[in-house]
Amino acid sequence: MNRYAHITGWGISVPDGLLTNDDIAQMVDTSDEWILSRTGIRQRYIAGDGQSTATLGADAALQALEVARVSPNDVDLIIVSTSSPEHIFPATASLVQDRIGAGKAGAFDLSAACTGFIIALNMAAQAIRTGSIETALVLGAETLSRLVNWEDRTTCILFGDGAGAFVLQASEEPGGVLSAVMRSDGSGGDLLTVPAGGSKLPTSPETIQDGLHYIQMNGREVFRFATRVMKQATEEAAEQAGMTLDEVNWIIPHQANQRIIETAARRLKIPMERVVVNLDRFGNTSTASIPLAAVEAIQDGRVKPGDQIVFVGFGAGLTWGAVAAQWTGPLPEEKRVVWPYRFYTLYQVYTRLRSLVLRFVRFVEGVIWGRRR
Ligand code: ACO
Repeated sequence: MNRYAHITGWGISVPDGLLTNDDIAQMVDTSDEWILSRTGIRQRYIAGDGQSTATLGADAALQALEVARVSPNDVDLIIVSTSSPEHIFPATASLVQDRIGAGKAGAFDLSAACTGFIIALNMAAQAIRTGSIETALVLGAETLSRLVNWEDRTTCILFGDGAGAFVLQASEEPGGVLSAVMRSDGSGGDLLTVPAGGSKLPTSPETIQDGLHYIQMNGREVFRFATRVMKQATEEAAEQAGMTLDEVNWIIPHQANQRIIETAARRLKIPMERVVVNLDRFGNTSTASIPLAAVEAIQDGRVKPGDQIVFVGFGAGLTWGAVAAQWTGPLPEEKRVVWPYRFYTLYQVYTRLRSLVLRFVRFVEGVIWGRRR
């Protein structure tokens, strides 16, 4: 019997801090007209105090689980795709696992910049299809505003913060994630990078003075690369899934730049009416951008169960990829209401208490074992 990995839940979380192009024009030498005409971006949201990649990710994850009517305890695997993790380690996925109280889930982060959500979706789908797991949470979550140099007008105009999550579940019904294309060309690694803070160039007063802990980008080169690979990856993923481009209802691309998306659509001969774009309101949220666009299109009724979709992304690495999928929606047999969402606030108190109890038990064990040594 074949197993399929269906997308049965979805959620997004965006911080409150609205930053318009005019606001940015107060900070660097730019204008609303320049940003809008070169990128299509009008505004973006920026995380405030107390918000981070894990808090946005956990919010999106709980919404996605609620849509799928899956209890956090039934999640087997959490993958967080991010380029702005909470720390180098522990993985942000583990912090999300704790925040949502997913007591039986494995968790890891996936780093492939803006392509990460595509790869995470494929990894989770493969784990389901092989029978290794039943239910996965796939997140794209970013607070890139914390890596942006707000004095660099070539990058600070682009990025925004946010998170999106999909729930994937096993089913014998054909559909869900059908094919994937994953590619990389590390020879272009220097085109889009945060040079310092890793093992090659650990943070030091010098790296901070030179601004090497911020995003550095060769915009023109990234632009050229993006338009080329989006066409290739979309065509390959559709073909592998047995779809012609005419049969694809929606292209949901990484939301980097309106001109990149329009160029790719033109080359694919797909009208913009079949391409989901929301970067005007959210900016480039890196790996969160594909789920942010997808969830909006589902919530406003454009994407319907049965629709054929190609998700396509590109980004630092260089990396690029695409997933072809048939949209499912919540599985019909799972009509139950799961208590975490009926008593949402209570559940959040429970997960905080659960985390505190686990820390306390660890503390007590440490004291006992410390005495015995
Ligand atoms: N306001 C006003 N002028 C500006 C600004 C700004 N914010 N930024 C650059 N300029 C100037 C430049 O200095 C340059 O001036 P010059 O000709 O006197 O030297 C001029 O505008 C043109 O600069 P370009 O870099 O050629 O501008 P371009 O049309 O390429 O647009 C942009 C720049 C928007 C960054 C574009 O190249 C782009 O979108 N590239 C792709 C970037 C991208 O998608 N990155 C994310 C990838 S996903 C990931 O992995 C995170």
